[in-house]
Amino acid sequence: MSTRHARPIIWLHWVTLIAVLSTVALALLREVIESHALRTDLLTVHRQLGLVILIGTVTRFLVRWRNPPKAHPSVTVTHRFAAMTHSLMYGLLLALPVIGVLATQAHGTTVTLFGAPILPTLIERNRDFSEQLVTWHSWGAWTLLAAIGLHAAAALWHHYVRRDDTLLQMLPPRRRGSTPMLTPDV
Ligand code: HEM
Ligand code: HEM
Repeated sequence: MSTRHARPIIWLHWVTLIAVLSTVALALLREVIESHALRTDLLTVHRQLGLVILIGTVTRFLVRWRNPPKAHPSVTVTHRFAAMTHSLMYGLLLALPVIGVLATQAHGTTVTLFGAPILPTLIERNRDFSEQLVTWHSWGAWTLLAAIGLHAAAALWHHYVRRDDTLLQMLPPRRRGSTPMLTPDV
């Protein structure tokens, strides 16, 4: 019998995917735009979405902590590799926004969320260090994208090659029919 993930985990998972892809797209779009004003606006929205991802990831940890997934009956090397990829993605979803915030503050810019300055100054203005932080932020983002690619390929392999329920367990209920839950909904 197959099992499925808690509903909030499923929604947070797919909303995070959309948010991450949009955040990266905004950052890349800046590279090809000449207008300084538009570039600034795109970076502002990038920062907002990045902070929303941070809040979503912390929420996801709390939901997961209240609804721990059942341990798999047999733990193989593949399961360990999948767990490592999940941990890497979780780590980067936390680290990237934090590094982004520090890079922004070191640049001398106030971090706001929907117009409100939400954070105290964590780091003094230092343009050189800001550039260094942006380089780490960039490497982290590309590592996250590579991990997502690997992870998505594994999910599709489960679905189309192994033909098991791994992907269906992560889809909203109406797409899955009557697949029972992996953890109780909250
Ligand atoms: C921003 C992009 C993504 C991130 C950060 C991400 C992250 C994660 C994490 C951390 C888990 C573990 C769930 C948990 O135990 O809390 C997970 C599970 C899963 N993800 Fe993703 N994911 C992303 C995109 C995708 C995509 C594009 C697909 C499919 C094409 C996918 C399919 C799945 C499936 C099927 C599971 C369940 C795996 C299992 O039950 O062992 N994910 N994802
Ligand atoms: C998971 C969330 C985030 C992802 C995936 C992400 C991804 C990226 C990417 C791909 C770039 C372009 C790097 C390059 O040009 O090589 C970038 C740049 C940047 N991001 Fe983020 N970011 C995230 C969150 C944040 C947050 C929360 C902030 C600040 C509050 C932030 C601030 C910045 C800054 C200041 C830059 C440099 C822009 C420039 O000078 O060209 N990011 N980010």
